This record gives sequence, structure tokens and C-alpha cells, in this order.
Amino acid sequence: MSTFTVVEEQGVAVLTIDQPGSPVNILNAAAKAEFEALLEQFRSDQAVRAVVIISGKPDNFIAGADIEEFVALPNQAAAEALSRDGQAIMDRVADFPKPILAAVHGSCLGGGLELALACHYRLATNHPKTQLGLPEVQLGILPGAGGCQRLPRLIGVRAALDIILAGKSERAAKAFKLGMVDELVPPPLLRSVALAAARRLIESGVPRRPRRGGLTALLLDANPLGRALVYRMARKSVLAKTGGHYPAPLAALAAVRTGLTRGMRAGLEDEHRRFGELAVGPVSRKLVQIFFATTALKKDDGVAPGSATPRPVRRLGVVGAGFMGAGIAGTAVAQAGVEVRMKDADLPRVGKGLKAATGVLDGRLKRRRITRQEYARSAALLSGTADFSGFPRTDLVIEAVFEELTVKRTVVAEIEASVGDQAIIATNTSTIPITEIATGAHHPERVLGMHFFSPVDRMPLLEVIPGAQTSPDAIATAVQFGRRMGKTVIVVADRPGFWVNRILSPYLNEAGHLLMEGTPIEAIDRTMTRFGFPVGPIALLDEVGLDVAAKGGGVMHQAFGERLTPADAIGKMLADNRLGRKNGRGFYRYEVGKKAGVDHPVYRLLSITPSDRVSPQTIEQRLVYAMLNEAAMAASEGVVRSPRDGDIGAIFGIGFPPFRGGPLRMIDDLGAAQVVSTLRALAAEFGPRFTPAGSLVAMAEQGGRFYDDGGSR
Ligand code: 3HC
Repeated sequence: MSTFTVVEEQGVAVLTIDQPGSPVNILNAAAKAEFEALLEQFRSDQAVRAVVIISGKPDNFIAGADIEEFVALPNQAAAEALSRDGQAIMDRVADFPKPILAAVHGSCLGGGLELALACHYRLATNHPKTQLGLPEVQLGILPGAGGCQRLPRLIGVRAALDIILAGKSERAAKAFKLGMVDELVPPPLLRSVALAAARRLIESGVPRRPRRGGLTALLLDANPLGRALVYRMARKSVLAKTGGHYPAPLAALAAVRTGLTRGMRAGLEDEHRRFGELAVGPVSRKLVQIFFATTALKKDDGVAPGSATPRPVRRLGVVGAGFMGAGIAGTAVAQAGVEVRMKDADLPRVGKGLKAATGVLDGRLKRRRITRQEYARSAALLSGTADFSGFPRTDLVIEAVFEELTVKRTVVAEIEASVGDQAIIATNTSTIPITEIATGAHHPERVLGMHFFSPVDRMPLLEVIPGAQTSPDAIATAVQFGRRMGKTVIVVADRPGFWVNRILSPYLNEAGHLLMEGTPIEAIDRTMTRFGFPVGPIALLDEVGLDVAAKGGGVMHQAFGERLTPADAIGKMLADNRLGRKNGRGFYRYEVGKKAGVDHPVYRLLSITPSDRVSPQTIEQRLVYAMLNEAAMAASEGVVRSPRDGDIGAIFGIGFPPFRGGPLRMIDDLGAAQVVSTLRALAAEFGPRFTPAGSLVAMAEQGGRFYDDGGSR
């Protein structure tokens, strides 16, 4: 079956790309071969005077090169060849003697955008689904079909690096402003406007594009000295963001630079050589695994396929208009576009909550992620009440009140009394067992946990926790709704700490033990950011809030006993009214809300004399292995349904370094036997809390692994 169909209209060949059986168009080997043959046909066909490339998919132009294909490449030379062939096709498009236009609606990514860039003219629909971007570095590779060369030539080096080095996508309006797109079109008119543009190009050729960006662009983009400065700054910023763990952005920067310094040919050569290196490298492998894991999770409702009928959620109720409630409400209107009714004890609190919920939209407007109209539309979906009015019409209610079992039970009873007899009730908790909250509910089958992370609008993970009696319908409803809120959702067991806080707990405790032994705060945090975490554990405690951390730590200690004994640092901090960032007093100082240096009086408060006695290697080992061991233990208890969920949860919930693939993947990479022997050594030196999990010992003895893919995917 073919990917392309051609219709000729008055000298214009309209080439529709619509890959059979695939939700998106992908430039795989078959599609490329077919495309090349068609190009040759158009070249010789006198009747064809221009070509318009358009997609037959509802919301996708082209999703890029086939990721499955490059993962399967046997070696660097093959990867290099793949990139070189892609470049050659794009060159053929760029050099084609007749105008070729790209008419873009929907996602236009990676190789898809590189194709559009090689075309002579680009139109795009002004629809939110139309996104143009080069996400390659997020897969650990670089744009390898000429993207590192054509984008900077089209929009200037600064704007191009901004997209390429971050793997960013832009909406059509922004792409138009940047000069990536020549014409913006309402979706229904795309085809007819593209045909008109093609006829114009036949008559009068490709229009000259004005140079953009005024004097700054002239100084920085168009002049070698200015560009040298841009490269230096870009390199610095990449290193600050990646800590040197991700080679792709630096390789992309080098390929851009080569092209602009030594010409297109040299640039393309450098580009495909570096593509080859990266595509078979370990970091890309891990990032691609994460891509496939998150893609698989998009289709996983957390129940056996076909076993549930999820309830469509049109109206959401949120009980508790505090920080979490407001974050949930704001994210729900912004992402899912549903009506949200917020309830709290009195109207002033409700008003405050509504304002905070609108804050989520303010942020998006400020960052230009939404338009003014979208802002107004979303804000109009929010309403509030102090008495459950409007709740009978809700399909799902999420309560986010105080973390206290009796309070939560009362609230669940109140919600049950005010909603219809099909509504699902979710409780947002990080510490209280769902089954206990559901005890006493009339319909425990419709009660479950939805553990959001703070701040809700920015944290990408959601844990959905079924209680003992939760029905598959309720689970699937919560999972699907979480996804509509833009979250990656994992379904986890109703065990203390669920997954994320369970594996975080020994790690934070260990940081506390290290500190109480006199390890400087900076040394602990620096070691872990060097390992690849976005923030160190002590800074994380400040972020989470020391009161919250103490409560969570207490619950885990009670549940799991001595192994999870917290260090007594936090108790002393709380006694000194140090709550962390939220009251500007924590392990760190906060100046006008911004984190400053370590707050040195803390050492005296904790009766510590800081010393560099413990080496960074030991700090890292103690912290990381505490987490790995707990992850193995929790996985063996069935807290997560699969290693995939566990690793995605750690990466998206805690910021476990993506290039390491997650804690379970890391155990596989290190080998269970090595992990067990290191844990035994740590246990001998630092105590039984490091005793290796029984499941890990068994795995080591049997040569087992968490994944059966051999690390390839
Ligand atoms: N290669 C292979 N498979 C791809 C793919 C790609 N580039 N893009 C999407 N798919 C597959 C997904 O794996 C999924 O497969 P499945 O149905 O078997 O699970 C299917 O297409 C649908 O994808 P989603 O479920 O993600 O669909 P959404 O509508 O939610 O999202 C999308 C669509 C925004 C296009 C998203 O799929 C996406 O971000 N894709 C990756 C885009 C990307 O990274 N492109 C760069 C590729 S590398 C490249 O182009 C190199 C070049 O420079 C040489």
C-alpha cells in the first residue's frame, strides 16, 4: 500500500502523504523510496509545474524519521549512512527545478520539518495542533537531514539554536514570526491557499525573504565575530543545563557552526558524521527507551485492555482551594478544557483558590503558550462554591484538603452526598492509604487516589492509586483524565509512599544521615546534581517543605521500620521554624523568593562541624544505592506494574537522570550482582539499612534482569 497519492490540479501536483495503518506519517525507508520515485516522475512530467506536499492525517504533517528504524541500526556507519541519505533527499527537494511547497497542519517534527525547510515555500495552519520543531536532541541525536544547516540559514543562528539545542517545537504563529513559515492559513483553507501560492510561485518564482531581527541580527547572526559570541554563549548555556551528560546539543551546535563557517557541504558532512556517533551511543538509547515508554503509557489505562468503560469527564469538582487544589483546577481548565467547580469552606478561600487557579493561565499567557482568546475561554470554565452547589453535575471530583485521615474521610462522605450516583471520587494524597480513606464510603468502588506533584501545572507525573475495592471503570477514568491534564500517568499499588515517595524516602533519609555526620550541604547537593538530578536532596527538602517531609518521613518510618528511620535533622529544623522555601527559612537562604547560598547557622543548630571527610564517590554511592535498593524492593512487592512504570515514575516524578534510564534500568546496566555486592559493603560500613532486597539477591543469583530487552529498547 502506498503512502502518497497524487492529484494534479492545473499544473500543480498535490502530493498527499498518508501512511496506511499509522496514526502519524513517518519518513521510513519505504516512504522515502516512494517519495524519491515521485520526485523523478514530477521532474520529467511537463504538465507538473509545481508540487504541494500536504498530509492526509487529521493533526499530523510528518512526525519525523522513523525512530524504530534508527534504533535498529547495527553500527555507527549505518547510522551515518541513514543521515547522509536523508540529507540527499532533502537536497534533491531544495534543488528541484520546479517549486515545491509544504502545506503544514498538525505536528511537523524532526525529519518532517527538515523536509518542509528544504521546500521552497511553507504554509502552516494557525491551529494549536500545528507545531513545528526539531525534537531530535530529546532523543539524544541531532537533526540529521540538513536541519542543522537549513534552519539557521532561514531564521538566523540565534533563533535556530534556541530551537535545535532545546529540541523545541513552536506554534505556527511563532514559527511565522521567526520566518520558518511564509504564510499562516486557517485550517479549512490550507489546500486552496497552498494551490494559489503554488500558482504564484510558478508565475513569479520564490519571493525574496527579508532579513529579520534588525541591527542585533546584523551584528550577531550575519557576522562571524558576532556568531562566535553566540556559539560561546550557547555552549555555556548548554553545559549549565546538561551538566555535560548529554552530548547531542553540543554536537548539534558544532554541526551548525561548521556549516556556517565552512559552508553547506562541510556542514552536512559534519552533521551526518555526528548523527552516526550519537545514534548508536548509550545516551540516545536511553532517551529513545523513554520515548517509547511514554508513548506506550499514552495508551495504557492501567487496567486490562477492554475490561473497563471509562467515564467521560465533562465537569470536574475540586474540593479544597489551597495550593494543590488550585493547581489541579488551573491545570484542568488549561489542559483538559473541562468546566471546573472549586469548593472550600468559605467564599474568601474559594476566591483565593480561583485566583491561584487563574495564575496557571497567567503563566501560560506570559510565556505565550496560549493566546488571549484561549486564556479567556479557559478562565471562563472556572467557578467556585462554598456549599457543593453544582457538584451533582460533576463526573469526577478530586479532593485536595488537609493530609489527615479523618478530615479526608469526612470530605469523601460530603462529596458522596452531593454528587450523582456515577461520579468518581479521587483523593489527592501522598501519605494516606486510599483503602483507609475509602473505608466508610458508600461506594468504595468509585473512590481512588490521584497523587499529583507540586507544582501541579509543571510536574509531569501523576500516580493513580486504586484502593482495595476500586473498580476498573474508576481507574480508567482517572488515568484518562490525568492524561487529558497533560500528565504521564502510572497506576501504582496502595502501599505507603506509593512509588515515588517510597523510593525517595531512603534517599532523603540518607542525605540527612550524611549531613548529621558533618557532610557539607553543598557537597551533598553538588554530588547529586553532578550525578544528573535537577536539584540535590537537601535543596529538594527545602522545596518540598520540611513539615511535609517530616510527616512523610514519619509515615514511612512507621510503615517500614528501622530501615527508613529519618535522620533527626528535620525535627531540629522545624523546632527553629524552618519550613524550607515556603517561609524563606530552610537549609538554604532565600532572598526575595530566590534561593541563595547555604544558611550557615544551620550547622550550629544541628550541632555539626562540616568537614569534607566523606568523598563525593561515597556520597553518591550511599544516596543512589539507597534508592536503587528501595526501588528493587518496592518493584518486587508489586508497587509498580512494570519496570517501565517504575523508571518513568522516577524520571518524571523525581527527576532521576533520564540518561541513566531510571533506577531499575540502572540496576540492569550495573548488573544485579554488582549492586548486591556494593549494598553489602555499604551495609557492613553504615548499617543494616543497606541490606540488599531479597528480590535483588535472588536476581543476582539467577542472573536475572528487570527488562528482558537486553537494554536495546
Ligand atoms: N518514529 C517512529 N514512530 C513514531 C514516531 C517516529 N518519529 N513518531 C510517532 N511514532 C509512533 C508512536 O510510537 C506511536 O506508535 P504506536 O501507535 O505503535 O504506539 C504512534 O506513532 C503515535 O504516536 P503518539 O501516541 O505519540 O501520538 P500523539 O498524537 O500523542 O503524538 C507526535 C504525535 C507529537 C508526533 C509524537 O508521536 C511525537 O512526538 N513523536 C516523535 C517526534 C520526534 O521525535 N521526531 C523526530 C524523529 S528523529 C528524526 O526525525 C531524525 C532526523 O533528523 C533525521
